[in-house]
Amino acid sequence: MIRCVSCGEEYDDEVIYTCKKCGSVLELVSDINVSKDIFEGRRDNLWKYKECIPVDETKIVSLDEGGTPFCKCDKLGSELGVNLYVKVEGSNPTDSFKDRGMTVGMTKAMELRVDTVGCASTGNTSASLAAYAARAGLRCIVFLPSGKVALGKLAQAMFHGAEVMSIQGNFDEALEAMTALALEKHLYLLNSINPYRLEGQKTIGYEILQDLGWQSPDRIILPVGNAGNISAIWKGVSEFYNAGFVDSLPMMTGIQAEGACPVTNAFRKGEKTVEPVLNPETIATAIRIGAPVSDIKALRAIYDSNGYSETVTDEEILDAQKLLARTEGIGVEPASAASIAGLKKLCEQGVIDKGETITCVVTGHLLKDPNTAIDACTKPTEVSADIEELKKLLINK
Ligand code: F0G
Repeated sequence: MIRCVSCGEEYDDEVIYTCKKCGSVLELVSDINVSKDIFEGRRDNLWKYKECIPVDETKIVSLDEGGTPFCKCDKLGSELGVNLYVKVEGSNPTDSFKDRGMTVGMTKAMELRVDTVGCASTGNTSASLAAYAARAGLRCIVFLPSGKVALGKLAQAMFHGAEVMSIQGNFDEALEAMTALALEKHLYLLNSINPYRLEGQKTIGYEILQDLGWQSPDRIILPVGNAGNISAIWKGVSEFYNAGFVDSLPMMTGIQAEGACPVTNAFRKGEKTVEPVLNPETIATAIRIGAPVSDIKALRAIYDSNGYSETVTDEEILDAQKLLARTEGIGVEPASAASIAGLKKLCEQGVIDKGETITCVVTGHLLKDPNTAIDACTKPTEVSADIEELKKLLINK
């Protein structure tokens, strides 16, 4: 059953993205009627939780997503005085967490027998949608904000055969246009306003609890853009808590870029919805979003979990990206590094207590944005293959 998060109106299974009564966002209501023991011993991907995901399992479109690495990061953790784990979502099939939402969303598309799917995207959603649409054999249309999509993501969307439109406008404008087409039934919308997307992404929360041996971390920190993922992870951990699989819940901590921070602004004022940021700007193009569609859900997650929201500057993001890559060997794109930058800042501010167990979700792979990575490094030294010359260079360093 689908339910409006604001007025509680309920809907049967139909193509619907917002409440017909009040216009708010929707969510799936799922009851968990299984023991957590059934997940053990299954192949380690998202569908090991199939009883908790409300779609027809005979229609599954999958690329073996989920089951991502959960890395204990003792070097960085001890520097900051916390017990740190990093959930590496860049290890999904198209190198971002979006694949979790897309396997479920595309399965729903097959159930509904649609022939065309679409999304607006800052890059990763389009890369993922293009791949899953190819696997499902559906037509795929994506709208990208012109000139603001990292190279790796653009390459993926194009190469998997999506029809790519470069929209003259930002993500928020591209999403508005795409949503209008979906409401006129030209295509099935697979942005995170579609509640089935979040049913896939909630499994990040499930996995973190299972990764920790059926315990909750004190806190989950992640970047926030369109605000779907923080809402989904909160839904996931809450479902497993309500099922009795764990006995506590994490404080949901959302990090935004300083130039695109409507959720943090609302959190600081104690508001339940955001005031859109009109010209969002950040080097972390994945989260360059001013009017997040899941703002109500995200703010609710933060308040209900006694969580927090903070901003980080582009410089802090780039520093954190390098720090994670060079102290722990984990390569992530700039938006993902916002979670590490936020962790650092909140430790310094004393918002995070010493000794907390923290999971930072890093959402996309380093190679999504190769230009930013290369720009942050010194160029390789051009040198001949002469051993003596190489020795001189390497040994005298
Ligand atoms: N991290 C990365 C790497 C992302 O691509 C996104 C969102 C986020 C974090 C934020 O997640 O929107 O659920 O709050 N990317 C979307 C896209 C908007 O189109 O790929 P969110």
